[in-house]
Amino acid sequence: MSLGSIFPSTRKQVEQLEPYSPGKPIWEVQREWGLERVVKLASNENPLGPSPKAVEAIMQQLAELHRYPDSSGGELKRAIALHYQLQEQQVMIGNGADELITLLSEAYLEDGDEVLVPSPSFTEYAFGGKLMGAKIVEIPLDPRFNYNLDRMASAVTDRTKIIYLCSPHNPTGSYIPRSSLDSFIQKLPSHVILVLDGAYSHYATAGDYSNGLDWVRRNKSVVVLQTFSKIYGLAGLRIGFALSVEPIIAAMHRVKEPFNVNTLAQKAAVAALTDEEHVQRSLAVNEEGRRYLYAAFEAKGLPYTPSMSNFILVEFGEIAYRVYQHLLKQGIIVRYGGTWGLTGHLRVSVGSELENRLFVEALDKVLSQLG
Ligand SMILES: Cc1ncc(COP(=O)(O)O)c(C=O)c1O
Repeated sequence: MSLGSIFPSTRKQVEQLEPYSPGKPIWEVQREWGLERVVKLASNENPLGPSPKAVEAIMQQLAELHRYPDSSGGELKRAIALHYQLQEQQVMIGNGADELITLLSEAYLEDGDEVLVPSPSFTEYAFGGKLMGAKIVEIPLDPRFNYNLDRMASAVTDRTKIIYLCSPHNPTGSYIPRSSLDSFIQKLPSHVILVLDGAYSHYATAGDYSNGLDWVRRNKSVVVLQTFSKIYGLAGLRIGFALSVEPIIAAMHRVKEPFNVNTLAQKAAVAALTDEEHVQRSLAVNEEGRRYLYAAFEAKGLPYTPSMSNFILVEFGEIAYRVYQHLLKQGIIVRYGGTWGLTGHLRVSVGSELENRLFVEALDKVLSQLG
């Protein structure tokens, strides 16, 4: 539909944009189905909640809310630089990793540039590209949902500007082994920026997992994206960060608005970053929950993709959408794979012990109803 008829017309790129399709919020399902208890396993949030130290830091800051935030985010950038053994100039903070994807796109993409994205994958990569009039080139994962990096490398042209890889991969939970990642990066030409989205990197326990940061230290045009929304449990505050070589970070700063990250988010993130106890507890709960859910899926004969993350992609075949809807009626929100063209799959976030059990009980009921 054209947005410009009797009103001024938008940029042509705006008509290409599709709104993000988030996991259903709890309140919506409560209202729709008249339910009191709703379990949300749809957005890969931390079931333990935020780091208590982050909550404390927010409380201490409340009386200062009449002040503008630190526009440079200096305290947080220094804390992140220290944590990752980088220079402060190699760090940028943003209003979620989402904003950093947009800023990188705004800083680097021209009409007609090419952006390589895995397919399926996190939809914001394509959003950033389309916003700037770039051409989105989708490179399919292999049938077992692993990356086909040779195919990705052979799709690089003179117009390729940004390549996105997320590892662990959303929505499948697969990851890229270090040796494959390293040989892919070695081959990349210098006009290409490689974005390694590590939103779920904390959950990756495989010995050969790499978050790619070594390549930033070696001065390659690599951007490592991280978020406080997942293991740190601060999704509602909207805060993420990018780690890269200085010229790329400087370019992203040039296009940001002055106060892109609010004060509470900055203070909470500084506290959460060093709350190692909360990180370790979150990791343990996730590993335990992953094992429990694997066992439940195996017992029901449901194929799933082994996950290095805090969610599991499960195959239901042609009943997938009906399972999703019936689960909603039982007060369980998961994510329907149709968002990514995976119409036979559901993506289930790993919850707390209780949430996982309620999900499995509801799933038993739904599967017996659907026969
Ligand atoms: C792969 C991936 N990257 C980035 C993000 C966005 O993170 P943020 O909440 O920091 O915007 C998400 C959120 O779900 C994600 O799954």
